[in-house]
Amino acid sequence: LIKPYNTTSTKKVEVRAMFNSIARNYDFLNHFLSFGIDKFWRRVLINELLKYKPQSVIDIATGTADLAIMAASKGVGEVIGVDLAPMMIDIGKKKISKSRYSYKIDLIIGDAENLSFPTNSFDAAMVAFGVRNFENLERGLDEINRVLKVGAPLLILEFSQPKSFPIKQFYFLYSKYLMPFFGRIISKDKSAYVYLPESIKKFPSGNNFIEILSKSNFENCRLKSLTFGIATLYIGHKLC
Ligand SMILES: C[S@@+](CC[C@H](N)C(=O)[O-])C[C@H]1O[C@@H](n2cnc3c(N)ncnc32)[C@H](O)[C@@H]1O
Repeated sequence: LIKPYNTTSTKKVEVRAMFNSIARNYDFLNHFLSFGIDKFWRRVLINELLKYKPQSVIDIATGTADLAIMAASKGVGEVIGVDLAPMMIDIGKKKISKSRYSYKIDLIIGDAENLSFPTNSFDAAMVAFGVRNFENLERGLDEINRVLKVGAPLLILEFSQPKSFPIKQFYFLYSKYLMPFFGRIISKDKSAYVYLPESIKKFPSGNNFIEILSKSNFENCRLKSLTFGIATLYIGHKLC
């Protein structure tokens, strides 16, 4: 099990502590370390989401709410964001109150593996760069499945690893040396940006992840590889 700090605490406790610790620098580092491409990846997810014309959407692992705000700004009627880390939620709430969409978005502290919503509640669910951090992936996916309406889509954005020359080699050097270096200098957390590439390396991607989605009762699953495979968008639908 890959954990941020390798203490005796559970992954969940460590992940919450890590995101609380880096919350203030999270948005800046996201854009800086990805050269701004993270915004494009979220936009791809939102474009796919809009094809379903959902009214109510749950944004799991919403963090600082970028995806939730983007969904609301593109016409989704109601967005609920859930995240483990109170400091991430705090920053998300500040951003929402400065946006024009605060009446449509609600953020709550909560655990994806134990959601406080009734079965069959939402028209769609989305998770950006969150599932990799779950302590128990299957339990998280089961819970998301439970709160979705039958047939409703789940859209997951997650990092993956590029496979072809020379992007693979460049990505290896970048994620092993530059990412931890800048991450540490800026966030002052020694481990967070070492955990990031290590957790990406160990996390199932491509068809392996599609298989996991299918086992968690999602059907018509597909994927879209983004930016040479550095990220992948997965889409599945709650089994009828
Ligand atoms: C890399 S951030 C992604 C935030 C946001 N979705 C984005 O696109 O920027 C991952 C987030 O997942 C949250 N997280 C991890 N495990 C979680 C869980 N079991 N339930 C809810 N949130 C979780 C963390 O607290 C963190 O804010």
